[in-house]
Amino acid sequence: MKILVINGPNLNMLGIREPDIYGSRTYDELIGMIREKSVELGVGVEFYQSNHEGDLVDKIQEAYFRKIDGIVINPGAYTHTSVALLDAVKAVMIPTVEVHISDVDSRDEFRKTSYIRQACIATVSGRGFDGYIDAIRLLIDNSDGKDD
Ligand code: DQA
Repeated sequence: MKILVINGPNLNMLGIREPDIYGSRTYDELIGMIREKSVELGVGVEFYQSNHEGDLVDKIQEAYFRKIDGIVINPGAYTHTSVALLDAVKAVMIPTVEVHISDVDSRDEFRKTSYIRQACIATVSGRGFDGYIDAIRLLIDNSDGKDD
């Protein structure tokens, strides 16, 4: 199983940005942690981070042609604004899990809106870095018993 882990704007600033909310570990540490766990879970993982909405759309579209089996996406602030990301996930029909490090529902009112959510099989929010592993497990469970 090939899983693509996408992180949107400002997630490259983990460790620096608002450590009281997002913790002190860096983006590289996040990737290292996911890589390690994915070996245990027996799945292949690839990573992509961009601060640009169109680049994120391009990457989701590319996943379709590359036959990626599942997507884990933390769209950052584009969660709350982007119809383009919603449409991209709908277009590729790849099982996708939305992840947020913080608990978006207990923060600002505008963070309660997620456009992408309706195209995702699940949302994991407020579980810190572990949320990415939860999301991978959900994708594995979702694929069990399906033949392709
Ligand atoms: C975030 C929550 C978003 O509201 C915010 O804009 C982010 C990160 C999270 O991981 O908790 O950039 O997606």
